Amino acid sequence: MKQHVAPFGDGTVVLRLMEERDLETILAWRNRDEARVWFKNSGKIAFDAHLAWYRNYLQKEDDFFFLVEANGQPVGQCGIYDIDNGSAEIGRFLVAPEMAGKGYIGRSCAEIIRFSTGFLNLSYLFLEVMEKNARAIRLYERHGFIEERRSGGLIRMGLDRGSVV
Ligand SMILES: CC(C)(COP(=O)(O)OP(=O)(O)OC[C@H]1O[C@@H](n2cnc3c(N)ncnc32)[C@H](O)[C@@H]1OP(=O)(O)O)[C@@H](O)C(=O)NCCC(=O)NCCS
Repeated sequence: MKQHVAPFGDGTVVLRLMEERDLETILAWRNRDEARVWFKNSGKIAFDAHLAWYRNYLQKEDDFFFLVEANGQPVGQCGIYDIDNGSAEIGRFLVAPEMAGKGYIGRSCAEIIRFSTGFLNLSYLFLEVMEKNARAIRLYERHGFIEERRSGGLIRMGLDRGSVV
């Protein structure tokens, strides 16, 4: 079973574990044409498939998926997963369309980094991003991620604990 994680944040954003009642909201964000093209599985996802994915996620101990809230409203999502041997992947970053460009996802990225060291005691994080996703790449660079390699249109970026501030 997944370990319970109490909500955490920086005073502006709060990250809390995703709940089944959130799925309709986040699926609507995810299925927008402007958003889904930036995910490896870029097709539209049906609700039943989304629910099945979520229920499978609930069984995983190495995967934490967060809803991001600001002023008590859902503003985005993010996750940390494949937690293994001191490292993990971060991703599933997605903003609610009307909340874009307000800094909420940048703050969430900072909080995930803080969670990864403070709570999970990890020393290394990585992520994958499409090389044309300039907005996301800038966001990750601002938080210290460095390109490690690229292939097939994807960039892998990494962050060593030594460079976490
Ligand atoms: C990538 C994504 C999550 C970023 O969300 P966002 O809301 O734009 O993120 P932020 O607001 O935290 O930061 C992004 C921009 O807002 C700016 N910003 C930060 N705080 C701000 C504020 N208070 N007011 C205005 N702009 C602000 C940042 O400087 C940044 O600008 P830049 O991209 O021109 O450098 C969003 O574009 C998205 O959902 N994209 C589709 C899914 C996706 O690509 N996910 C990543 C897959 S790897």
